[in-house]
Amino acid sequence: MTLHTDWTLNETAERRDNYYAASQRKFIPFKAPMVFKKGSMQYLWDVEGRKYTDLLGMNVCISVGHSHPKVVAAAMEQAQELTHCTTMFYHPVPAHFAEELAATMPNPNGDIEWVVHFTNSGSEAVDLAMTMARSYTGNLDLLALRSAYHGPTAAAQSITGISGWRHPGMPGNVAFVAEPHQYRGIFGEKAGAQPYLDEIERTIHTATSGRVAGMFIESVQGYGGIVEMPKGYMTGAAERVRAAGGLLIADEVQAGFGRTGDHMWGFEADGVIPDIVVMAKGIGNGFPLGAVVARKEIAAPMAEKFMFHTYGANPTSCAAGRAVLQVLKEDNVQENARTVGAALLERLHALKEKYPAIGDVRGRGLMLAIEMVKDRKTKEPDPQTTAAVFEATRESGIILSKSGAYQSCLRMVPPMCLSLEDVDHVHDGLDRAFGSL
Ligand SMILES: Cc1ncc(COP(=O)(O)O)c(C=O)c1O
Repeated sequence: MTLHTDWTLNETAERRDNYYAASQRKFIPFKAPMVFKKGSMQYLWDVEGRKYTDLLGMNVCISVGHSHPKVVAAAMEQAQELTHCTTMFYHPVPAHFAEELAATMPNPNGDIEWVVHFTNSGSEAVDLAMTMARSYTGNLDLLALRSAYHGPTAAAQSITGISGWRHPGMPGNVAFVAEPHQYRGIFGEKAGAQPYLDEIERTIHTATSGRVAGMFIESVQGYGGIVEMPKGYMTGAAERVRAAGGLLIADEVQAGFGRTGDHMWGFEADGVIPDIVVMAKGIGNGFPLGAVVARKEIAAPMAEKFMFHTYGANPTSCAAGRAVLQVLKEDNVQENARTVGAALLERLHALKEKYPAIGDVRGRGLMLAIEMVKDRKTKEPDPQTTAAVFEATRESGIILSKSGAYQSCLRMVPPMCLSLEDVDHVHDGLDRAFGSL
């Protein structure tokens, strides 16, 4: 059966605007509507046949490439055999995938037993990690970083520090800590980790009961505007949080799966081993899937009650996930993220030399951003220039992402098959866009 779909641009926009609820309708990035019809690896085509380089990676969901043939084939093969199998029964695909995911976790002495709980999405995984940490430690208070984004569910919003994402009705028991931003952090430029670690201690003593359940950290903040945790920060945070009875929870929803170039998991750059790791997005290369990977003993207390994610461990999504892990190896994806990311970073630095509107260039691997400021001395965020460049690069066939607490960053998180030729194209498109302002 073929469903009739009217692909006309204006009709699609009208239908969306008429029938989407306001809560979902607002979130459109470009001034004029855009309808994508096809994707292949790092490229997208709109309904009029125009080609774009996708530096947004459809919100970092596309890890190994749009409609990667091996991922699609694995998922389709599974969907045709048995599309869904509830987690109450045994199925080999999620079981294999759990084993394979656990094997990607650090285990230097071989004494950590990693276990997996599959969810539908990242925010479900975040919610679960919150509950797991609270159940295991018996403590309620959580720490999170200002300028962190952890998802749209009420619980995930409660640890999200960006006001634009926070709605009424969030649960409490969350204390926010200043983000160790090496460009615009409260302790000034390149202040390192130490003053921010002192802040964690002060926050535990002043804004919590003194006993905490855990702290959520993204090794590289995504929606926060690509904020890398400085060397020693995650390790130092783990020490302080554990001393107060809590756990280190790494949110690798954006930074995981080799995106930072040097490691499979972003936190590995600091040599720290978290107690719980949350992942989603790139795990399924566009198929809906999330997971919590935890030390076995930390998940154990949750056996007392039911925690059932209807589509958690869905075999179709898990087949896609298994194929993603395979493609990461076969296509040398992490190495590509490292080398192509380094080349792109260099070109972004060159643009900063040329255009004073660019206040900062940062990130690693294929997790990069430029931040626009009105004045390099005051660092006043410049969302207007950011929006203008964003719109202008569309004309050059480049899809970027506005992000950061002030919407003053252009984030680049493409499918990790981006090539060196694409880097030239992106550089030239940005150059033209800044030049046209
Ligand atoms: C770091 C981080 N954590 C959690 C989430 C929530 O994931 P999801 O949108 O799949 O619920 C996101 C989503 O963007 C994210 O970027």
